[in-house]
This record gives sequence, structure tokens and C-alpha cells, in this order.
Amino acid sequence: MRHLAIIMDGNGRWAKARRKPRLAGHRAGADALDRVMRYCKDAGIEYLTVYAFSTENWKRSKTEVSGLMKLLSSFMKSKRDELVGQGVRFMVIGRRDDLSTKLQKEIASLEEATKNGRFTLAVALSYGGRDEIVRAAAKFKGGGEKEFSDCLDTAGIPDPELIIRTSGELRLSNFLLWQAAYSEFYFTDVLWPDFSKEDFDMALASFSKRERRMGGRAKR
Ligand code: FPP
Repeated sequence: MRHLAIIMDGNGRWAKARRKPRLAGHRAGADALDRVMRYCKDAGIEYLTVYAFSTENWKRSKTEVSGLMKLLSSFMKSKRDELVGQGVRFMVIGRRDDLSTKLQKEIASLEEATKNGRFTLAVALSYGGRDEIVRAAAKFKGGGEKEFSDCLDTAGIPDPELIIRTSGELRLSNFLLWQAAYSEFYFTDVLWPDFSKEDFDMALASFSKRERRMGGRAKR
């Protein structure tokens, strides 16, 4: 598998169960992301795309939205050297114009510093699959599926073979709509901050058991 995508769901419920503020759940979620990134590298996966903030998430409380933005900013700062040292290419997909100028600058700087990394971490921020398709359509100058894919935020990245969603929800929630055309899905009740190496291994084992016929097209 080259590309794994994850809907990191359940941070709020994880925090609630511990009588902690929602942001504590997101913080634990960021730690889980850090761990899972390592599992992916060890498994030889080349691309990890995670849903960190949807276009819908702007409707959450001001405190939660600003807390998530701060968390992202401190994640980028504290992980910078590690990402560069470990050959991780950091990138953001989504409506980055919606983010503060300061955050946009921090993102651009980290993208530039990590551009030669062999492992890609793509963070979906203010991301919606339909929105991405509408923006791609505006750029599209004609051609076929390949040319259209090249207009998406994920241009140059292969489609995800597997999409994992944690915390028991069985929906795609506007994540990677175009790219998920042939993806396998793995759902687990585990809340994202609790997602362990064992859970990761189970998801990969389930994936490798499935026959991927993809409507008669050759295996990718
Ligand atoms: C869904 O849980 C999770 C989010 C909306 C945010 C995901 C963000 C992180 C995992 C951490 C930040 C990421 C980076 C890159 C530092 P929820 O709040 O919807 O949980 P609930 O459904 O239990 O309320």
C-alpha cells in the first residue's frame, strides 16, 4: 500500500470520558497522529493523509476552533526538526486561504523546509471534498480523469488504497471524494486518541485480505 488516509474521529468523546476539555482530546489526537506516522513509515507506506479540520468544523465553538489552530501551529513548530530529520514532507490540502495569514505563513515555511522528504504527511485543513472538486473544476482546462486529478489539491499523489475511520461512524463525511473512488474502507469503534499499533496492524491485515478487483481494472 502506498497511500493511507485517516478520518481521526472521536477526540471529543475521548476527552468527555475523562472529564477533560475537548481540546485535551485533540491534543491526545495529535500524539496519536505522531505515533501512526511512525507506524506508516515502518510499514513502507509513502503517503499519509489525515482529516484534521473540515469546512464544517468552522461551526464549532470559537474556543475549540482557535484551540485546534493553535495546536496545529505548535505541532508544526515542535515537530519541525524531527520532520526534516526524518525525511517527512509536510503538506496541507484544503482551503488554506481560510486560515489566518500567520498560520498560512507557518505552513508555507514548513512545506518549503520539508519539500525533499520521501514520506508525505498531508494534513486536510478547512478541507471538503466537494469544495476541492469545485476548485479543481475552475482550474480544469480539459482532458480526462488524469488531467482533472492534476487540478486537485492532491495532484501528484496516488489515490488512497485504504481509508480508516475511527470512533464508530460509518461515513466519508466529505473526505477525499474523488480520490476514494476505489478505496477500501476500514471502520473501528476505537476513539482516535486510543488508536494503537495493534489497531493499525488489524486495519492493514484486513486490507491485505481483501481482493481488490476494482471493477475489472488492473490492480494499482
Ligand atoms: C474529530 O473528533 C477530530 C477533529 C475534528 C480534529 C482532529 C485533529 C487532531 C487529531 C489533532 C490535530 C492535528 C494536527 C495535525 C496537529 P471530534 O472532535 O469530532 O470527536 P467527537 O466526535 O468525539 O466529538
